[in-house]
Amino acid sequence: MPETPNEYSTDADVTKSRFADSLGGDEYDDLLLALDFYQEFQNESGHALQGYIAEHCSNRSEVRVLEAGPGTGITTEQILHADPRVHVVTVDIEPKMLDVVKKKFMAVEDYQHRAEFVLADILKFLESCPDESFDAFVSVYTLHNFSPDFRRQVLEVLAKKLKHGGIFINGDKYAREGAEHQHDLAAELKNYEKFDLEATKSETTGNTDRAKHLRQIHQDWDKHLWEDEKNKITVDEQNELFEKLGFENIAWLQRFDLVTTATAIKKMTLLP
Ligand SMILES: C[S@@+](CC[C@H](N)C(=O)[O-])C[C@H]1O[C@@H](n2cnc3c(N)ncnc32)[C@H](O)[C@@H]1O
Repeated sequence: MPETPNEYSTDADVTKSRFADSLGGDEYDDLLLALDFYQEFQNESGHALQGYIAEHCSNRSEVRVLEAGPGTGITTEQILHADPRVHVVTVDIEPKMLDVVKKKFMAVEDYQHRAEFVLADILKFLESCPDESFDAFVSVYTLHNFSPDFRRQVLEVLAKKLKHGGIFINGDKYAREGAEHQHDLAAELKNYEKFDLEATKSETTGNTDRAKHLRQIHQDWDKHLWEDEKNKITVDEQNELFEKLGFENIAWLQRFDLVTTATAIKKMTLLP
């Protein structure tokens, strides 16, 4: 058996390495410079969770939420903010990312006892959980990093670990068909040009290191985008998985260029 979760030889090794260098750790948050909609997009997941808890969890003292890939904690904040009864277990395979999020949340009194941070591959972690352990699964910008096969495996196991009536919320790069997708891609690449504008500002204030970094991450995010294209999740793929895995009340929330949020409820009875 491997000594640490990162030594597992799965697709996870590939996804992990994507956030180990210039796009990982605190530097991940530079992405907010390029994507104006970032916060609004994250709010969609937070509001979806909040609405679900208000409607379905009135008699509960604790609401157990699983998060895959907290990164620097932007989505984790949404989850914890949704309701004071939320207890989140957040799982990331990249130590550089988990260190940032852990430090951030352990420093906030209200969050200290409501958040658990696990260094693991999400599939391995899910497999270790008892069935029906979670009321909700929330993730943003993580599942698209997986290959279609790995993603399907994760969702199949996840479907068992969610309680009946539990909610799945995933904000991600969900590709539309044909010309619409090309339009979304072009908009995303245009967004990344803002890194150069910021770099020019840094140069005028004499901060050449920062300018160099911003020009480098422009190239890195462009490259990342083309890599994402190879494994892209389509809206159709997600709808088919929902159907196959016994989810209902499927909803697609607001779209911002390449990204949108899918929500669905695990049916109260299992499919035959
Ligand atoms: C792009 S970040 C998302 C951060 C945040 N949710 C957001 O919306 O900004 C994706 C995170 O998923 C993590 N990740 C990638 N593969 C993983 C896996 N197999 N298991 C757990 N986490 C994984 C990465 O390390 C990274 O921190």
